[in-house]
Amino acid sequence: MKTNLVFDSLELELKQYAKENSVPIIIDEGLSFLESVIRIKKPKNILEIGSAIGYSAIRMARVCNSNVYSIERDEKMYNLAISNIKKANLEDNIHIIFKDALEALDDVKDIKFDLIFIDAAKAQYHKFFDIYTPLLNDEGVVVCDNMYFHGLVSDVENIDSYSRGVRGLIRKLNEFHEYLLNNDKYHTSIYDIGDGMSISVKK
Ligand SMILES: C[S@@+](CC[C@H](N)C(=O)[O-])C[C@H]1O[C@@H](n2cnc3c(N)ncnc32)[C@H](O)[C@@H]1O
Repeated sequence: MKTNLVFDSLELELKQYAKENSVPIIIDEGLSFLESVIRIKKPKNILEIGSAIGYSAIRMARVCNSNVYSIERDEKMYNLAISNIKKANLEDNIHIIFKDALEALDDVKDIKFDLIFIDAAKAQYHKFFDIYTPLLNDEGVVVCDNMYFHGLVSDVENIDSYSRGVRGLIRKLNEFHEYLLNNDKYHTSIYDIGDGMSISVKK
């Protein structure tokens, strides 16, 4: 493991890169929540859907030295994540899978996860949840980011002013909220933290 100083400067560099290149990475408040969940649960294995440049994977792996398996479908993001993980000297902990998460179950199907963090295409959250939760340990948790989708999810009055694509995303995320809140296998709470974070645990 590298010293905190090296990590701090790498993390600043990644945040700066994300800002300058409009890469959406988890915001500080959401990350702080996620890190608290990790401190409490001490997960051995974490599954992340949506690596981008590897920022959240690096942050998650550092908290409790967990193994992180992270799925990314964009080649440029995948390559950046690999290079950043190398810089962090966390290649033994973090495994990036270059695939669409809708088709990557086979790559992780033999692993039991203590935490699943969903942070990829919003319209597919329901599918990601259904595909990967069978791999969750009984005491495991699922955390989803961007549940408020920049406040748009609750902006019902102005829904007609958004493009068709955005309206579709809002509808899908609202359906996902309903699905989680009425799920007979999971208890879910959705918090006004960061861009809206949900946490689901098995009933
Ligand atoms: C919000 S970013 C992830 C940010 C990252 N978790 C962080 O906080 O540092 C979402 C990423 O998910 C990827 N993505 C979107 N849909 C995906 C899918 N179906 N399978 C794999 N990756 C996907 C995008 O290419 C993008 O890099």
